[in-house]
Amino acid sequence: MNRWIQTIPLIWALSWVSVAAADNHKDWRKDGTLEEKVAHIIQTLPSTANIMIEIGKRYQDLYWAAKLGKWEFAQYQVEEIEGLLEVLQITRPGRAASTQVFLDKGLTGFEAAFKSKDWNTFSRAFQNMHAQCMSCHIVNDHAFIVLPVAPAASSSLILNLPQK
Ligand code: HEC
Repeated sequence: MNRWIQTIPLIWALSWVSVAAADNHKDWRKDGTLEEKVAHIIQTLPSTANIMIEIGKRYQDLYWAAKLGKWEFAQYQVEEIEGLLEVLQITRPGRAASTQVFLDKGLTGFEAAFKSKDWNTFSRAFQNMHAQCMSCHIVNDHAFIVLPVAPAASSSLILNLPQK
């Protein structure tokens, strides 16, 4: 038999091996079962740590926006922090109750501060927020994550502060 004809079955077999390998990396978004899709989506929901990194940044920006008298930008940060915590209540139901305590107690005083555009009123609201952030860290066994009462810097492009 011709040598080439002899190799045809081998090529055919190898092509199936590569199809099988590709199958291991199938796109679950298109080809997965509903269970797989739901499991993958749940697995990739933002974690507490993911959300906290953003909240931490907004906490810095909030402080510095107020310090620079950029009250609307400060108010926007409070709204975004509130929104992020509402997302956390969905993605991490085990933390929903302690997050609710923060939502009830940690945002008071800001409305008056943004209305009066007064630093001292803001400062009191911010100190109260700080205390409530910390009590949630404590009840969630993360007391070692200690937030500064007066963040030293903000990297916000909008505030455009010189970077240390
Ligand atoms: C649910 C209660 C809760 C509230 C409310 C809360 N935190 Fe957290 N925070 C946590 C937990 C829990 C962690 C540890 C992350 C983890 O376990 O994945 C954390 C971690 C952090 C971190 C460290 C993130 C990192 O990985 O480096 C920062 C920064 C932070 N929080 C800022 C804040 C600020 C600012 C506030 C208030 C505006 C706040 N947190 C309010 C529970 C909370």
